[in-house]
Amino acid sequence: MKKLPKRYTVTAALPYTNGPIHIGHLAGVYIPADIYCRFLRCKKRDVIFICGSDEHGVAISIKAKKENKSPQEIVDHYDKLIRNSFKNFGISFDNYSRTSLPIHHKTAKDFFDLLKSKNKFFEKESNQLFDVEESQFLADRFVTGTCPICNEKDAYGDQCESCGTSLSPEELINPKSTLSGSKPVKRKTKHWYIPLNEYEDFIKKWVLKDHKNDWKPNVYGQVKSWIDHGLKPRAVTRDLDWGIPLDTKDKNKKVLYVWFEAPIGYISSTKEWAENKNVDWEPYWKSKETKLVHFIGKDNIVFHCIIFPIMLHSSSEYILPENVPANEFLNLEGSKISTSKNWAIWLHEYLEEFPNKQDELRYALASNTPENKDNDFTWREYQSRNNNELVSIFGNFFNRILVLTHKYYSGKIPFAKNLKKEDNTLLNELKLYPSKLEAAIEKYSFREFSALLMNLARLGNKYLAKQEPWKLIKDNPERVKEIIFTAVQISAGLAILSEPLLPFTSVKMKKILNLNSDWDKISINSIIIESGHEINQPELLFEKIEDEKIIQQLKKLKK
Ligand code: 2FM
Ligand code: ZN
Repeated sequence: MKKLPKRYTVTAALPYTNGPIHIGHLAGVYIPADIYCRFLRCKKRDVIFICGSDEHGVAISIKAKKENKSPQEIVDHYDKLIRNSFKNFGISFDNYSRTSLPIHHKTAKDFFDLLKSKNKFFEKESNQLFDVEESQFLADRFVTGTCPICNEKDAYGDQCESCGTSLSPEELINPKSTLSGSKPVKRKTKHWYIPLNEYEDFIKKWVLKDHKNDWKPNVYGQVKSWIDHGLKPRAVTRDLDWGIPLDTKDKNKKVLYVWFEAPIGYISSTKEWAENKNVDWEPYWKSKETKLVHFIGKDNIVFHCIIFPIMLHSSSEYILPENVPANEFLNLEGSKISTSKNWAIWLHEYLEEFPNKQDELRYALASNTPENKDNDFTWREYQSRNNNELVSIFGNFFNRILVLTHKYYSGKIPFAKNLKKEDNTLLNELKLYPSKLEAAIEKYSFREFSALLMNLARLGNKYLAKQEPWKLIKDNPERVKEIIFTAVQISAGLAILSEPLLPFTSVKMKKILNLNSDWDKISINSIIIESGHEINQPELLFEKIEDEKIIQQLKKLKK
C-alpha cells in the first residue's frame, strides 16, 4: 500500500489586491483547492490550507495612480473585499495573510539574503527603460509596446498576453510609458539575477522525468516548452518604490521583484498561522514527510513549476511541491473573462443577487472545472445544473425520504427485519463511494468528484422510484420499513460525502439527520443511521431558479 504523507501543505495562488475576485478565480483555483483540503480534513489528515493577498507589483501602483490613492489604500480596500468573498463562499483557509505585513517583508528579505549568502545570485549592470518625466525606471507593466514575437500592439513589459511570451521591457518594439505616455530613454542600473539557465538539468530531472506521469498534461507540457526554449537568468530586483525594499536606507529604492517574493508569501502565511497556533511552521515546509501542493491558474505555471522550485531547491532547506494541479481558464458566455471590459461575474455581486446560494455556484463551477481545456460558464448551464441536478435529483431525493420517514414513522428510523437483495446492492454501492471520491481527488478531478456525488443521489432516486414505498404502505408495511431504512442510509451518505463540495448544504443535512458520523466509517459499514434514531423536520435544500432571474443576469452582463 502507498505510504500516506504525514502532513500536507496546500497553497492557493495569492490573489492580487487590485480588483475583486470573479468566478474564473473560484473555478480554476479556490474551489478545487478547497474541495481538496476539506476532503483531507474529512479523512482526518494533518493539512494546512494557506493563502493571502498579493499586495505588491506594478499593477497595484498603476491602479493607485489612476485613482489618486496610495498603493496601501488600494490593497487595504481589496484585501478586505477578497477576504470577505472567500469567507462567504466557504473557502476554508487555515490562514489568509497579506504580503504587505512585516512578517512577510522579513521572511522574503531573509530568503533573498539566504540565497545571496550562498552565492546563488549575480549582480549585473544594464541599460533599462526610464521615464524622464516621472523620473522612474519602467519595470514590468509600467511599459507597453509591440510584442517582438506576435506583433500584438499592447504587450506588457513582462508578458505579451496575446501570445503568452514572457518578455523584458527592453524587448518591446516602440515602448511607451504607462505612467506618462512618453517614449522612454535608456539608463544604466544594477540588479540581482538568478541564473535559471544553470538549473535546466535540475528541472529536466525533477519535472520532465520524475513527474512525467503524475502531473497534469497541461502543466507538464508548459514546463517542457519553457525548457525546450531554454531558460535565461531573471532579475529578482526592481527599481520601484512599492514593494519590499532591499535596503531601507538606500535611496535608490530597490525592491524585490514581486514574482520573487509573492510565492514566499506561502511561507510567511504559514509562519503567521503557526504563531497564532503556537506550533512549529518548519515541518510544513522542510520535512520530507510533508506533501506540498500548489493550486494555481495556468498563467502561473512557470512561476510555480520552474522559478519558485529553483528558489526552494537552491536554498537547500525547503521541500519541493509534489504536484501543481493548474487549471485552464473559465470563459464567460463564450468570451474571455475581462476585468477591464467588466465581462465577469464578481463574487460579491453574485451574492447580492443570489443570497445564500454559495453551494449552487460551487457545484456549477466544480462540475465544469476547466481541467484540461478552457471551459465556458453560461447562466443557462448554471440554471440547468441547479434546477435539473441540485433541485430535481439531490434535493428531491433528500426531501422525499425525510418526508416519508416523518409521514410513516414520525421521524424515527424504522426497524428493518430483513434487507432484500436490492437493498443490499444499494448499500454495497454506497460503501464504494468514499474510495471512488478519493480516486477523483487523487487525480485532481473535481468534475469527477461532483459527477460522482450527483450519481449517488441519482441511485437513491432510482431506488425509491423502483421500490415505490408509497404504493406498498397499506399492504406491505414491513417491506416499507426496509426501503426507508435503506434509502435513509443514502441520504446520510450524501450528507457526509458532500461536505467538501457543498459545505453549507452538508451542515444543513447533518443537522436535519441529527448526524455526527465520519467519512471513513461509510466504507466499512454503510449502515450509517441505526433504527430508532430520530431525525428533525426536513427543509428544502435547493430551490428552482426561474428564467426571469437568468435573463436579468444576461442583460446585466451585456450592459
Ligand atoms: O496571478 C496572480 O494573481 C498572482 N497574484 C498569483 C501569485 S501566486 C504566488 F506566487 F503568490
Ligand atoms: Zn506576443
